[in-house]
Amino acid sequence: MALELKVEKVSAAYGAVRALEGVSISVAEGEVVALLGTNGNGKSTLMKCLTGLVRPSAGTIKLSLDGQTIDLVGRGPQDIVDLGVAMVSEGRRLFPRLTVEENLMLGAYRPAARAAIAKNLDFCFETFPVLKERRKQLAGSMSGGQQQMVAIARALMSAPRLLLVDEPSVGLSPLLVSQTIEKIGELNRKHGMTVLMAEQNFHQTIKIAHRGYVLVHGEIAFESRDVAELENNDLVKNLYLGA
Ligand SMILES: Nc1ncnc2c1ncn2[C@@H]1O[C@H](COP(=O)(O)OP(=O)(O)O)[C@@H](O)[C@H]1O
Ligand SMILES: [Mg+2]
Repeated sequence: MALELKVEKVSAAYGAVRALEGVSISVAEGEVVALLGTNGNGKSTLMKCLTGLVRPSAGTIKLSLDGQTIDLVGRGPQDIVDLGVAMVSEGRRLFPRLTVEENLMLGAYRPAARAAIAKNLDFCFETFPVLKERRKQLAGSMSGGQQQMVAIARALMSAPRLLLVDEPSVGLSPLLVSQTIEKIGELNRKHGMTVLMAEQNFHQTIKIAHRGYVLVHGEIAFESRDVAELENNDLVKNLYLGA
């Protein structure tokens, strides 16, 4: 396997607030793995540990890439992007007063990506044609769904091997949620992109996820081998399916 992310027994805290406790997950090449959890259960914190924005207090995060295993703990965000791990942050975090194209260029700072800007930009525009039409528009003046497309495209500009997406559905209408999730699924199906996606929208998530984990109070409460196991799990039924 050319790519594997292995998180083992990771804990993290904000001062006295414990956000993660002994979390172990893995993501293998070509998978779409869901990180399910309702608000405040640690999804974003785990994503931030993976991208070097939060330093775990315990545990290991190892990325195996083409036969080399790299420890991500202690590396900075830029380093981690350079290794090929890009994140679409919760709430999109665009620069509203920059154009679509300028926002995309900001995603291309990874050295390997800089050499391939034109190719990556073409790929983004092919994936999201509306962004090509609107490349000169200020990002802040676009609809929520379009802004989410810019955020995903910006992550793609670093030509990632592993794409982390933190709650893409936040603040979007149901139709746009479904279109956004479908696009993420398409990146996996058509282009083999490996994806770890944090979500609370269970029904949309299982449309594209191969398997998943459920985070409750900072711990992995359930791990599924496939989507059927997720759908049939009592905890999931209680949390998401109103059982
Ligand atoms: N910057 C922060 N400072 C203090 N506490 C935080 C901070 N960010 C998150 N938390 C707390 O950590 C826990 C997990 O939050 P988070 O990872 O954002 O969950 P989720 O993404 O699942 O909603 C929550 O109790 C939250 O209040
Ligand atoms: Mg979050």
